[in-house]
Amino acid sequence: MPKYRNSLNKDPGSNDPLISRRSFLALMGVGACLVGAGALTGASVLGFLYPNAMKVPPSVFSIGRPDEILSRDGKVFSPKQKVFVETLSGKVRVQTAVCTHLGCTVNMTETGYACPCHGSTYDRHGKNTGGPAPLPLLYFLVSLGASGELMVDKNKTTLDWNEAWYTPNV
Ligand code: FES
Repeated sequence: MPKYRNSLNKDPGSNDPLISRRSFLALMGVGACLVGAGALTGASVLGFLYPNAMKVPPSVFSIGRPDEILSRDGKVFSPKQKVFVETLSGKVRVQTAVCTHLGCTVNMTETGYACPCHGSTYDRHGKNTGGPAPLPLLYFLVSLGASGELMVDKNKTTLDWNEAWYTPNV
């Protein structure tokens, strides 16, 4: 029969207030579990109060005023929206920079685009030319918003690189 039978393994006949090392470690383990459970609960509550939808960029966004955007020719990467904004002779088009394989951000190359994750390549129009990417890079349609800014709608897409150009009547 074990010498100690109560929960703290204290000798019932002893006046020693200290608990055994084993009991202390057991209590610390229970405490660590309670702290972990509290942290998980807190994270869940925060996730509920600040849902992921608030972190996702809106599907309609501005790329700026036409006079600013069309004042230069070239292709610029916009990291916030993960798009390429291309301007040429007073017209503009916007193309996704999200790889159609697993969603990494593609980089511009001399011949088009390349994905750093698994090696997919695209030509300069965004047509997939190599690697595991199953689809081309989409263009998002551009329009002039009521605020006078150029608006991009990620829900309106095209694969036609000529149709993707937008010329604002300003
Ligand atoms: S995510 Fe781009 S190749 Fe896999």
